Order: sequence, then C-alpha cells, then structure tokens
Amino acid sequence: MRQLLVIVLAAGEGTRMLSDMPKVLHQVAGRPMVSHVLDVALAAGAAQVAVVVGPDHERVAAEVRRVSPSAEVFVQEQRRGTAHAVLSARAVLERGYDDVVVMYGDTPLVRPETIDLLRAPLAEGAAVSVLGFRPESPAGYGRLLVANGELVAIREEKDASEAERAVGLCNAGLMALDGAAALAILDRIGDANAKREFYLTDAVEVARALGRAAAACEAAAEEVVGVNSRAQLAEAEAILQQRLRQRALDSGVTLVAPQTVFLSADTSFGRDVIVEPNVFFGPGVRVEDGATIRAFSHVEGAHVGQGAIVGPFARLRPGAELGQGVHVGNFVEIKASELAPGVKVNHLSYVGDSSVGANTNIGAGTITCNYDGFRKHRTTIGANAFVGTNSLLVAPVTVGDGAYLATGSVITDDVPEDALAIGRARQVNKPGLASRLRARLSAGLAPKK
Ligand code: UD1
Ligand code: MG
Repeated sequence: MRQLLVIVLAAGEGTRMLSDMPKVLHQVAGRPMVSHVLDVALAAGAAQVAVVVGPDHERVAAEVRRVSPSAEVFVQEQRRGTAHAVLSARAVLERGYDDVVVMYGDTPLVRPETIDLLRAPLAEGAAVSVLGFRPESPAGYGRLLVANGELVAIREEKDASEAERAVGLCNAGLMALDGAAALAILDRIGDANAKREFYLTDAVEVARALGRAAAACEAAAEEVVGVNSRAQLAEAEAILQQRLRQRALDSGVTLVAPQTVFLSADTSFGRDVIVEPNVFFGPGVRVEDGATIRAFSHVEGAHVGQGAIVGPFARLRPGAELGQGVHVGNFVEIKASELAPGVKVNHLSYVGDSSVGANTNIGAGTITCNYDGFRKHRTTIGANAFVGTNSLLVAPVTVGDGAYLATGSVITDDVPEDALAIGRARQVNKPGLASRLRARLSAGLAPKK
C-alpha cells in the first residue's frame, strides 16, 4: 500500500462569488465544498490530509478541524499561485509520503475512484499525473498538451498559443505527484508567466526536464466542475442532487418524483421508504425502514422511525426524534422533541422542547409554549395521554401518563397521571340575549340591504 498525502488548496479569494464568506465554505447538498473534498480525500485512503487556507480564513480552518480533526492546516500568507500554495504545506511534504495528490477546495464533486485512477501512473514510475476532462467550453482552463501518448506540458490559457487553445483536453486541477520527487519538482517551478504566479501546472515540464515521465488521465466533465461563481455553485448542486437521488433509488427508496426531492450529502434512508414529491432534506436526517415522507415536507436534523408517516406539509427541525409508527400530519412543526412510538400529531401543531410518551394523541392546533422571551422550557407528556384540540401547554409543565386534557385548555400546572384537566373558562348561555344585543349594536345604523 502506497501512503497517500492529500493537499487541499483552499486559499482562493472567490471574488466572483460576491460573498462575505470564503468561497470553499459555500455549500452544496447541505455541506461546505471544502468538507466534501475532505470526505473524498479520506474515502480515497489518505494517510494524511493538509489544507492550505488564506491568511484571513480562520472560518475555513475551523470547518476543517470540525470535519477532520487530524487534518493539518497551513496558511498561505500571499496568494502567489497554485504551486506556491502547495509549498505552504512544505512541512508535511518533507515527512515523505509515497503519493501526493493535490485537490482544489472549490472542486467538490470528485469521486474517490477518480483519485485511484489519478494515482495509478505513479505506481508505474510517472512523477506527475494530471486529471484531464473535456468541458463544453474550455475557456479559462489550462490545456493538456499530449504528444505520442505522453503528457508534455500544461499551458495556461493566458500563456497559450492559438494552436494550443484549440486543444479540448483541459486541466481539471487535480494532480498526483511522486512523493519522493515532489519537493524537488515544486522548488524548481518559477513565475515567468503572464500572471507572475508559481503555477502547479509547470510541474509537468519540470518533471520531464528531470528525466521523469508525466501522464494524463481523463474524468467526466461533471465530476470536476470548479466553482467560481454562484451559477457554477448551482450547477454543482444540480449534479450532486442528481447523484444523491440516484443513490437513494439504488438503495431501495421510492422517490415518486425524484427531480423534486432535495437531499443532503448525509441523508440516510432505510428500505422501502417512500418520499412523495417536493420534499427537502436538510443535513442530519435519518429515515428508517418503511417510513413515508409525504409531499411538501421540510425535514432537517431529524430521525424518523420505522413506518412513521410525516406530512404532507410537515416541518421536522433539528432534534425531532420520531419513534416507530409516529404520525406527524399537515402543518405540524416538531423541534427538539422525542415522540415515542405510536404518537399522533396530525394537524396544525407546534411541539418543541418536549417529550411525548407512547401512543399519546395530540389534538389539532396544540401548541407547546416553550419560550418565555428569554429561555426555552420543556414540556413532558406521558404515555397514552390525550391532549384535546387547541390546547396550550405552557412550559415548563408535565402531564402524566393517561391524562386527558380538555379541548381548548391552557395548561399551566402539572397534570397528574390519569387526571382530567380542564383549563378554560366555563361556558354561559343567556337565552334571548342575541336579538337584544343585535338591536343595541345596530342602533342608529342604516338598515342592511
Ligand atoms: C487552475 C489551473 C488550470 C486548471 C483550473 C481548473 C493552475 C496554474 N491552473 O486555474 O490549469 O484548468 O485550475 O479549475 O494551477 N489557490 C491557492 N493559492 C493560490 C492560488 C490558487 O490556494 O495562490 C487555490 C484556489 O483557492 C483554488 C485553486 O488553487 O482552489 C485553483 O486556483 P485558481 O486561481 O482558481 O486557478 P485557475 O485559474 O482556475
Ligand atoms: Mg479556478
């Protein structure tokens, strides 16, 4: 096994994003681009990952540490080109790995298999291996110049002749280097080019000058989409959504209208899950076997138990834990609450910071009043309880097992087990008073037509 070091370049300014956020933190499928790249590096078997960030990109460094605590972060003080960026990680290069793979933090859709493909020529003696692709429009990309089956050079567009610009095979930005030769090659790269930058792409010509071979591999264009603008971010999102939908379908999920379902990279489904049209899954969702997510639901950070039914028009927010067979119906919002097996909340309710025991029924229009304007408070409802329609539970409050709350109650005090709680004004009927009231109210008005 050859030991792999992956260096992720993430010092880009991303000026074309017109954003206050570093480019590589923009998300696709609910996850920052740089995190996708780290995932791929780890899935490809990296023994070590190094990330090069810009001088003011503390937020990028923090995200890197969150996703991959063992990754080393290096700061590129001045943005002097891609080879210069790689050399910012000199300390880790000096440690000596067999293979070094350079990835870009703004190219999030590469698959781990493609890293294997890129590394293969190194095992056969090449010093440099470059990933090529054929974009619809090659403008802006470096061109791979191949002669007699060998990669001879990469020419940046700004430095290319007319004939070189006509080449369709472009540099995707991924490069593998023989670890033993990497520093010798990188240190020989100069900045005599149109942008006065140290181009990583020059590694090809330098390696050849040292008598070593360079190779080119090819990947599908959609795998190496680089994100420099919001339009490209949307393009990457669309490609990734397509992949995630396919993965869900392949794992036995029914997506009635796949194009209308939006997934996160970490959305996890059991068998025989059915997802109706127009459903959005944010990060951190797990849906167990046999559950159904009905149309127009928005689900994030939630766990949906076996056979549960959610929606239509339901919202599950982070910390929603739905047990087996739970029903959450239309216009219901659940946040940070555990609903034990068999609980039903079928209509127009908000359940937040709560726990609800097994088989309890929550009537239409129930609200847990969890916020007093300063703090959040918990509502605890036992098993087999009945919460009457349009009840307000003013937290902190506890309702015992089997309790019965009368419709329209405002529950401010704890309700013991098996008690009937009625928290509303008593009704009074005044016979004959309706017409007298009308007469009084209409006095002096013109008669209705
Ligand atoms: C680069 C390649 C080009 C390739 C294209 C693919 C070079 C010289 N050119 O061009 O052949 O077709 O990518 O998208 O490599 N970065 C740093 N520090 C720097 C400069 C860049 O970290 O000083 C990072 C950027 O954040 C980005 C990546 O390196 O993630 C590529 O830099 P960018 O300026 O986008 O290069 P391109 O002009 O797109
Ligand atoms: Mg770029």
